[in-house]
Amino acid sequence: MNPAALSSLPGGMQYQLKIYFEGMQKKKPSLPVGFEQLEVLAKEKMPAEAFDYIAGGAGGESTMYNNLQAFNEWQIIPRMMGDVSHRSMGIELFGVQLPTPVLLGPIGVLSIAHPDGEVAVAKAAKALHIPQVVSNVSSKTMEEIAQVHGEHPHWFQLYWGRNNDFTKSILSRAEKAGYNAIVVTLDTRIFAWRERDIQNAYLPFLYKLGLANYFSDPVFQSLIKDCTSDPVQVLMHFANCFSNPSSTWEDLSVIRESTKLPVIVKGIQHPDDARKAIDHGVDGIIVSNHGGRQCDGAIGALNVLDEIAEAVGTKTTILFDSGIRRGADIFKAMSLGAKAVLVARPYAYGLALGGEQGVWEVLSNLLADTELTLGLAGCNSWKEAGKERLKKVGK
Ligand code: GLV
Repeated sequence: MNPAALSSLPGGMQYQLKIYFEGMQKKKPSLPVGFEQLEVLAKEKMPAEAFDYIAGGAGGESTMYNNLQAFNEWQIIPRMMGDVSHRSMGIELFGVQLPTPVLLGPIGVLSIAHPDGEVAVAKAAKALHIPQVVSNVSSKTMEEIAQVHGEHPHWFQLYWGRNNDFTKSILSRAEKAGYNAIVVTLDTRIFAWRERDIQNAYLPFLYKLGLANYFSDPVFQSLIKDCTSDPVQVLMHFANCFSNPSSTWEDLSVIRESTKLPVIVKGIQHPDDARKAIDHGVDGIIVSNHGGRQCDGAIGALNVLDEIAEAVGTKTTILFDSGIRRGADIFKAMSLGAKAVLVARPYAYGLALGGEQGVWEVLSNLLADTELTLGLAGCNSWKEAGKERLKKVGK
């Protein structure tokens, strides 16, 4: 192989041919390329309850199913004979140029997948210029993860609870650590009935997993100072800081007033909620059903994207997550109005199977697949993608 010859090819082709050439030396990809096989291998490698926590969803997991089904129902109509030799996946997001529309969705407690957890994910994300949305319930502190990113874009996701002092403290730490945006998750004010976790009687937070940002926080430290030896009381303080089922749209002002960073709300599934979010001062929305982990029996997230984009697409920045597994999924979400997408479970499995390198490989495959799909559908850029490129078939 002559590497110089490969470097003149567009990204996806270059990456793909490198794999084929390495095959001639008997070298194969170290991880399964398809999501389904990746998940099977992750299941073999991980402790059962850790795998179930990441892989599972709410109730009978019909929302997870509906997410995948929605991607099956929207189908691409590839167009022929345009010049697609100048492909670029670049986007601009909140004034920042990014080479691809992919961000890493916030997954908490990643130490249950790999001891290096979110730090390994950060290293792989930075190497690929993919912003990481760091979960509030990360297993490493937000400061430790931010240090890996430095100037590279990284966002912080907040579970927003009853204790405003804690919320303000966390937001000010995020600003100080150099995070570029705040994602507020709206769909987890109540923790869902997750059959797999209930069956396993397993919730990682009870083992103090995923609580690095809490135990390192001065407000949380002062809340628990008189009860550190009582795990139930500590957990009650955590729960109080984690969620607040009584909060309403008006309460978003607490967050809006506590940070100068862009605020993006995650979990929007109805145009009216998108409008309300905008009326209450958010900078962006993420159309998402939390990867099917919250409300069982909910509509596939892709099936609400175009309606929301039509309602508010010119008034705010719309991102999408829930069910993205492959490049075609990214093409569909971008065509239906997303400005960028978040990918989650695939990188968690990469992490479980190969640490930083595993995350890198899973994401590199996804980016190559996406770049090739963009061209195969007949586009050079996301500007050329649009609803007219798709048809909804089936139900
Ligand atoms: C949040 O912590 C989740 O498990 O989805």
